[in-house]
Amino acid sequence: PHILVLHGPNLNLLGTREPEHYGSTTLADIDARLAARAKAAKVALECWQSNSEAALIDRIHSARQHTRYIIINPAAFTHTSVALRDALAAVAIPFIEVHLSNVFAREPFRHHSYFSDLAVGIISGLGAQGYELALDHALTQLTIKA
Ligand code: DQA
Repeated sequence: PHILVLHGPNLNLLGTREPEHYGSTTLADIDARLAARAKAAKVALECWQSNSEAALIDRIHSARQHTRYIIINPAAFTHTSVALRDALAAVAIPFIEVHLSNVFAREPFRHHSYFSDLAVGIISGLGAQGYELALDHALTQLTIKA
């Protein structure tokens, strides 16, 4: 795909998981909205979720071939994973970091991200809409460079 959307651990439980932080939209709903937007723009998009750090790293490596933009919510790995950070640095594909909740309004351990300084930009606290805003930006960038 031209654009790859990566969802990290526990995001498969969206809809029922801590709705006070993450809202009631399911991951399937989020992915369907993104797919519709990408289709309208005639851009190939894949949404992919894993609870496994290793699987996410492998998926980032295989993105090297065709993917021109990544949108990633690393979830808890945001705050822990040097390995996932290094994978994104290695493939050098521009990426936007998205969080449903405002991580800066939460526990101090969520305030640090291993990704933010490498990201094109960060969206945090805008709920499911954050992914759509990130996709709009990626589409704009890809269209400009096409
Ligand atoms: C999250 C925020 C993280 O701190 C948390 O571990 C998540 C989800 C978010 O989307 O708000 O799993 O990335």
